[in-house]
Amino acid sequence: MAISPQFLDEIRNRLSLSDMIGRRIKVTRAGREFKACCPFHHEKTPSFTINDDKQFYHCFGCGAHGDVLKFVMEHDNLPFREAVEMLASEAGLQMPKEDPRAIEKAEKAKTLYDVMDGVAQWLQGQLAQPANHYVMEYLTGRGLSPETLAHFRVGYAPNNGGALVAYLKEQKVTLADMQALGLVKVSQKTGEPYAFFRDRVMFPVTDKRGRVIAFGGRILPDHLREPDRGDFKPPKYLNSPDTPLFDKGRVLYGEDKARKAARDGRPILVTEGYMDVIACHQAGFDGAVAPMGTALTEGQIESLWKMIPASLKEPILCFDGDRAGKQAAGRAAERIVPMLIPGHSARFSFLPDGEDPDSMIAGGGKQSFQNLLDRALPLVDYIWGQHIEGKALKTPEERAAIVSALKEKIAQIPDPEVQRHYKALIDEKVSKAFFGHYERRGNQSRNARARGNGAPRSGVAVRPKMPFFNDLYDKILLAALINHPSLFDDIEEHAAKLRFATSEITALKEFVVQTLCGDPDISRDELCEKLSVAGYEKEKGDILNEKLYVHAAFAAPVSDSHDADLGTIKTKWLEIWDAMQAKNAQKQQAQHWKTQV
Ligand code: UTP
Ligand code: MN
Repeated sequence: MAISPQFLDEIRNRLSLSDMIGRRIKVTRAGREFKACCPFHHEKTPSFTINDDKQFYHCFGCGAHGDVLKFVMEHDNLPFREAVEMLASEAGLQMPKEDPRAIEKAEKAKTLYDVMDGVAQWLQGQLAQPANHYVMEYLTGRGLSPETLAHFRVGYAPNNGGALVAYLKEQKVTLADMQALGLVKVSQKTGEPYAFFRDRVMFPVTDKRGRVIAFGGRILPDHLREPDRGDFKPPKYLNSPDTPLFDKGRVLYGEDKARKAARDGRPILVTEGYMDVIACHQAGFDGAVAPMGTALTEGQIESLWKMIPASLKEPILCFDGDRAGKQAAGRAAERIVPMLIPGHSARFSFLPDGEDPDSMIAGGGKQSFQNLLDRALPLVDYIWGQHIEGKALKTPEERAAIVSALKEKIAQIPDPEVQRHYKALIDEKVSKAFFGHYERRGNQSRNARARGNGAPRSGVAVRPKMPFFNDLYDKILLAALINHPSLFDDIEEHAAKLRFATSEITALKEFVVQTLCGDPDISRDELCEKLSVAGYEKEKGDILNEKLYVHAAFAAPVSDSHDADLGTIKTKWLEIWDAMQAKNAQKQQAQHWKTQV
């Protein structure tokens, strides 16, 4: 506890300095001051002076200088607090009482954390009970290892609402604290306290420092639950209410662990729930966190950025592929855009409909989830997509409406530099989509000219809603694969499904796939050579030509292998693939209706 300066002044005023010193060493009066041989260095003639008016001593020999408190501390070798206590009693003063509210608060906070920690431990103990083995089996059946369960301190709250209360009473926790922590409620009917969480798998929620501050409880699947009394269907997840320790809008589940991952350079992922975070960590995506069943708040976005020590701060936000997920993504973007500053952003990743990271890792393995993360959209692309998705973009008015909506969005960016770059990128996208050409931009077009190649390097000149004509898109994808054979690793299965109008080109594709299967490290030139040797010269010319690259610059070969940004090429490849899949699905649907009538 801090001792107030006023109290120290009171001590100085009440005590005579020369008196206090005179009790310890021999002092003699010299005019208005006192003199002594300095007790802090060895001397024969006194150079130590004491001034009672100014309440300080000074040694002209060794420079020792101070007030009564310092003198006692140094001479009697007492720590600060004890020196004050000693002087206070000399001065006939009561030591000030510590601010009782501050003490209570500090002590309370400490004990509240201890209580929560004890409860987490108790819940873990419940899960370990032989009688609750079926709960453990449910969790391990979902693929969680005992190490993971221990790492996240997963527990089980028994159905008997009195058990936790009894434990807490034994720990001498007051009923008021149990309630304040959201652990216990009091029955209005009987007046009896009972546990808030019952018959649930328990996830302790920790703060940045790893201290337990709240809990989330998941209901057991129906066949494992105690039979219901009444027709009330309890919610799947129950979270602690806000308490003195827990502010739902500020906390991210898994933050203490993800923080370490970010420090080691791994990406921060934002998922939706407890199980996703745990499954991600277990699969090695240990930068995963989740909000507490709510939309991301500004405070949480700031926390995410703070967690990332790298200069580019881009947490990846994962959303379900369904409508709710799209809405959540929209809300997140709405929050983030007005907060953008240089180096701070987010990427958007969408899971296939009906999947979450947990189910995706369980079903498709780490790699499928990793592939999805690799394709996460930069915020600017997400915003663009959000504005044009499902729009006709045919009439000038429609186009103008989209452009002004985009402008409005960009105007929300507070940082002028970031805003300028958003504007430039969106302008470029607008040119490509509506006018079918690229804005010439500095280095880029110079480079393109230097290569003697009219096609610019970046972007796909494919408008998402353009009508599909014959097999142009399949050809683009095949050309990209031949020109960038290392794509094969990631798109092997897709490549096998490409369809062409002529059997010659289909045969060429088969040949390419076969060759790449046999020799995944083959270079572009070697592959072309093999195609010529195998008699595909003409078809090769049909696929690998400038006219085609005009539609998709990324599919073109690069003269200098350093220039190939495989990540971007892959993303664009998959974008077209996805667009094609969607188109085919539509066609099939149309076919289906035709056959119905
Ligand atoms: P989900 O229903 O997607 O659950 O809720 P989940 O995380 O996939 O869990 P499993 O795989 O079914 O076991 C996602 C998150 O939304 C919050 C929780 O934080 C949950 O983790 N939520 C959900 C609630 O707060 N209350 C609810 O009733 C449901
Ligand atoms: Mn799930």
